[in-house]
Amino acid sequence: MLAGKRILLIIGGGIAAYKCLDLIRRLQEHGAAVTPVMTRAAQQFVTPLSVAALAGEKAYTDLFDLTDEAEMGHIQLSRVADLVVVAPATADLMAKMAGGHADDLATTLLMATDTPVMIAPSMNIRMWERASTQRNLATLQGDGMHVVGPNEGGMACGEYGPGRMAEPFEIIEAIGRVLANGPLKGKRVLVTSGPTHEPIDPVRYIANRSSGAQGTAIASALAALGADVIFVTGPADVLPPAGVEVIAVQSAAEMLDAVEGVLPVDAGVFAAAVADWRVKRESGSKIKKVKGALPILEFAENPDILAEVSQMKKGRPGLVVGFAAETDDVVDNATAKRQRKGCDWIVANDVSPETGIMGGSENAVHLITDAGVEGWPRMGKDQVARKLAERIAGALA
Ligand code: CTP
Repeated sequence: MLAGKRILLIIGGGIAAYKCLDLIRRLQEHGAAVTPVMTRAAQQFVTPLSVAALAGEKAYTDLFDLTDEAEMGHIQLSRVADLVVVAPATADLMAKMAGGHADDLATTLLMATDTPVMIAPSMNIRMWERASTQRNLATLQGDGMHVVGPNEGGMACGEYGPGRMAEPFEIIEAIGRVLANGPLKGKRVLVTSGPTHEPIDPVRYIANRSSGAQGTAIASALAALGADVIFVTGPADVLPPAGVEVIAVQSAAEMLDAVEGVLPVDAGVFAAAVADWRVKRESGSKIKKVKGALPILEFAENPDILAEVSQMKKGRPGLVVGFAAETDDVVDNATAKRQRKGCDWIVANDVSPETGIMGGSENAVHLITDAGVEGWPRMGKDQVARKLAERIAGALA
């Protein structure tokens, strides 16, 4: 994904600096070369020796190191990379960047660089929430810097909340997005995924067996081709992919609201297994078990999100891709579904229990378009996703 790219990695002085050792390794696995730079404080957390050993390059530390200036001046050093990544970006480093300071090698490089910059903030929750940090963040974003994280979770200081540095894989996904030069660069693509939960009462709901694996793989494949992906997901078993905008919903009604909120898009892929019905009157309190008196649930029809978007008079995506989950007469049923809903393409799959597709890692699909029906051999859901993403890229070109 990052073959031939060079990352200038500025390691700030926070406990998360240890994660940079792993980040260097992972970047190299993706084909990138890493030029490491460390602030003075960073060297309290990890040694230049470990960093240099992993990077396979000198860890630059000092602005006034004459040898470095002879080998490579700081201006040149700031320009060698395709991307400058600051990780961890501490509160202090962010403040210096926002204020335009240049009092050490790291900040001078950041001032002198003409390449895009990404920061991975990491700090205690109170420091993160401090008005000054949020002001600095807004300034840096306004200056066009890319930001990845921070995540929410337990911290080295024992507190819990936002402030944990993004994991190396998330930073790499984000780098991939910034450097992506794929055919979908600049295209906005919506993907719906996962099941929906239709509430019966505050503790019970109606659901289906969708794991969200296929939709997640599609979102990830589209992002890898450079698309800006907006991922609207029901409560899935699998984690949403990194590098996409995630909108989490529960019910079909919420999914429709979310979808309407993200339009217009260049293409929409509707991979969610949306419940066709909801319980007409959701009980506000838990329905109690009464001996001999079974509750009777009355159903109401859910909105058909795919059909509504496909039939929009204004703001319809240029390409609308639906899915058809069938157990019988797969191609015939899916062909009729495409007609009925008005989408451009339908990806039909056989979800009979014996296929193991629903909840499994493989899929065998037919792609139905204006041009006819194509049967794809059974393959991994990630391969189906890549193939579909490439087809979408071809259609939007
Ligand atoms: N879909 C949707 N909103 C719904 C139901 C389905 O957007 N309320 C979308 C799905 O995301 C999928 C396509 O419609 O892209 C087909 O879903 P599927 O469950 O196969 O078909 P249904 O319309 O539910 O028809 P049936 O259950 O009768 O097969």
